[in-house]
Amino acid sequence: MRVSVFRRAHFNAAHRLHNPNWSDQQNRAYYGKCNNPNYHGHNYELEVRVTGEVDPETGYLIDLGKLKKIIEEQVEERFDHKNLNLDTEEFSELIPSAEHICYVIFNILREHLDDKYELGVRLYETPRNYVEYPAG
Ligand code: NI
Repeated sequence: MRVSVFRRAHFNAAHRLHNPNWSDQQNRAYYGKCNNPNYHGHNYELEVRVTGEVDPETGYLIDLGKLKKIIEEQVEERFDHKNLNLDTEEFSELIPSAEHICYVIFNILREHLDDKYELGVRLYETPRNYVEYPAG
């Protein structure tokens, strides 16, 4: 019996979208307000999907308490109330777009989950804008 379970999490973070290979003018024209030199924040909502076979002995796919802990320790503690550009190694070189943040979170969680699970990550930057990795 194959199922998906979901866990939601939340973090607040600041960022600035800026490509250092472009002029300031090109950056402003392309990224608009997201290029504000003094940064701006988002209330990020994260949805983690874990898929696999239910263990008939426990009735569980995964212990959601353990999944919660992995997300708290590996994602929330790392990114919550941080300036992604300035305070994190992950985005010191990588533009912290929702696309890149979603991909980075996927890779962090992938390292901490058993290979038997399939993983999907959805990241909401606003209630209406979200990114999913891997692509659907
Ligand atoms: Ni933004």
